[in-house]
Amino acid sequence: MKRPIAAIVGTGRGVPEGVMTNYDFAAIGIETSHDWIFERSGIVERRIARNGETTCSMAAEASHKAMERADVHPGQLDMIILSTATPDRLLPSTAVDLQAELGAGRAAAFDIGAACSGWLYGMTVAEGMITSGVAETILVVGSEKMSAIVDWKDRATCVLFGDGSGAAIVQRAKTGKGILSTFLRSDGKLADLLYRPAGGATNQFSQQVLDERTQFVRMAGREVFKHAVRSMSEAADRALDAARLTAEDIDLLIPHQANVRIIEATAKHSNISMDKVYVNVDRFGNTSSASIPIAIDEALERGRIKEGSTVLLVAFGAGFTWASMIIRF
Ligand code: ACO
Repeated sequence: MKRPIAAIVGTGRGVPEGVMTNYDFAAIGIETSHDWIFERSGIVERRIARNGETTCSMAAEASHKAMERADVHPGQLDMIILSTATPDRLLPSTAVDLQAELGAGRAAAFDIGAACSGWLYGMTVAEGMITSGVAETILVVGSEKMSAIVDWKDRATCVLFGDGSGAAIVQRAKTGKGILSTFLRSDGKLADLLYRPAGGATNQFSQQVLDERTQFVRMAGREVFKHAVRSMSEAADRALDAARLTAEDIDLLIPHQANVRIIEATAKHSNISMDKVYVNVDRFGNTSSASIPIAIDEALERGRIKEGSTVLLVAFGAGFTWASMIIRF
């Protein structure tokens, strides 16, 4: 097993206070039911950004907490890597808005786009930056205002997603704890199974776009489900192989929180029993790239991750992209 080079030294989360339960969809004219949503996804409620909450403001809340726990001040940040599928503006990045908000004057800041896998992509980039000596202290944030890009007239997607942010401070590992292995993969041939058809530079905003609602997320749910299970299972295997570990060595599996059935299938494939799997999709829905850092922060707070715990992280998202990482805490 390799000696870790980079480690998480503090985490935080920033989730909106506004809770929307499965029962609240009726009030906005969505024909659905708690039973339909819960049976297919495991989701009971999600957080929805209101009153001016933005991708940047949620990221700032998560980042302040992570810096406080890591005992790091904004001036120490060499780099801010922000993963999002919901940037506040298309130009410039939300990472630079976060940099300004935090007052992290020395940091290089940029967004990363790998959808739900984005935070693990960002963590892998951070590990590389520390390994190469480019940076010593890096803030890696996943922040998503999914409520802004789902089609609130499409009941097959709008019920699945939620808003929130999670952050971690990454520094050089000093005590033998840290990132033990990483794995990243993408397959752009499958991009049209989960995407936003319009709003970019090619299919720009127009009356037609607004009429056809193509600026919002489109998802082939069943296809996504199949690929998610297959890819997350592969990612789990690859991270274990790379760290020369087996499922018995894993104290906690934290998968991307998209759907409890995808989570159960991934855990079963990896021979990890559900009591060793962290699940909060029931309370947050799918917060895309924020889901894993939010879950890590909660798991630390609740004692599910302890000193010395070996944690397997697995993600899958639009692209498709998939990724995994093993961290010893
Ligand atoms: N409430 C009630 N009925 C609904 C709803 C709803 N919210 N949404 C769809 N339906 C109806 C459909 O209209 C359809 O009705 P019909 O049979 O009369 O045509 C019926 O329910 C079945 O629809 P399906 O899409 O076939 O339902 P399925 O069992 O496949 O479940 C779901 C749909 C939950 C989307 C499932 O496919 C899934 O979980 N896919 C994975 C999606 C996901 O997790 N994506 C994110 C992962 S990647 C990432 O995080 C970016």
